[in-house]
Amino acid sequence: MDSRSDELSTGTNARLHDAFIRLREDLSSEIVGQSALIERLLIALLADGHLLVEGAPGLAKTSAIRALAARLEADFARVQFTPDLLPADLTGTEVWRPQDGRFEFQPGPIFHPVLLADEINRAPAKVQSALLEAMGERQVTVGRHTYPLPQLFLVMATQNPIEQEGTFPLPEAQLDRFLMYVRIGYPEVEAETEILRLARNRARAAMHASGEPPERLPLADVFAAREAVLDLHVAPALERYLVELVLASRDAGRYDADLARRIAWGASPRGSIALERCARARAWLAGRDFVTPDDVRAVAPDVLRHRVLPSYEATAEGWDGERLVAELVKQVPLP
Ligand SMILES: Nc1ncnc2c1ncn2[C@@H]1O[C@H](COP(=O)(O)OP(=O)(O)O)[C@@H](O)[C@H]1O
Ligand SMILES: [Mg+2]
Repeated sequence: MDSRSDELSTGTNARLHDAFIRLREDLSSEIVGQSALIERLLIALLADGHLLVEGAPGLAKTSAIRALAARLEADFARVQFTPDLLPADLTGTEVWRPQDGRFEFQPGPIFHPVLLADEINRAPAKVQSALLEAMGERQVTVGRHTYPLPQLFLVMATQNPIEQEGTFPLPEAQLDRFLMYVRIGYPEVEAETEILRLARNRARAAMHASGEPPERLPLADVFAAREAVLDLHVAPALERYLVELVLASRDAGRYDADLARRIAWGASPRGSIALERCARARAWLAGRDFVTPDDVRAVAPDVLRHRVLPSYEATAEGWDGERLVAELVKQVPLP
């Protein structure tokens, strides 16, 4: 049998692509001026990964993930991370049932397919680890039992950049469980004006009978779209470029001795995998059946900034992961 027959038909691919473009348009009409965040959410959905989002309060982080979940056949849960949160508050616990004479597992919020882990750095390491482990292993162990997480499992964790006191920084070694680390800023003046209009409409709608609930994308379509993304063509030279970019983060001395001195730790193979999947997802969303160097460069900052750590010395000079990645992208020649 021809192996190509496993691939999605052109018609199916076009239908899935249309559904995702509609999804993006719907989200953009509800969340204005945050197109990067919306695009990253869709890329994470298509690449089967999780997002860490850093942004001030009130920038529509909660609204964005909630709006996405409302348009998928998937339940949503939000967990506010606080210093007194316990791993079991996230994972669930075994509860004794005297009438049955046995324990029964009460699943926690982590078993929701779309999960917002709000202010993840306000909970201690034990809780953070419970989440990060589950994200990596797609299962949760409670007592002597292991429970699989839902097939769709999308976590968006948030961090507030302005409040550092009393927080617990995420372990750097585990940060690479996040497909992307997205930083968002304040909207432009036009978007902010549009936000006012949207807020008025919402306030009005809340006083009357609520409108039609949005159409929900079946999960089978999400999984089929993921397959379509995996079917895209990546030229060998582009694959090589992508790998070079990640290798350069480990051995920057080949390009620039100063850069090498500034990097304490480079990206792992998890970084290469993430870079490839995100570039593919971006190309697919753009309606192409092949990936370009531009796709790789466009996603590189969000995919790599938390995987490339500055040396102590470089940190003192004001370098962070973001700046190092920008420099790597500048140094590694395009294919
Ligand atoms: N870009 C935006 N588009 C539409 N509404 C917005 C936008 N930014 C903020 N808002 C509105 O401001 C409020 C705060 O948003 P929220 O999602 O709770 O922010 P966050 O979770 O980032 O703190 C909500 O009512 C939200 O609808
Ligand atoms: Mg919020």
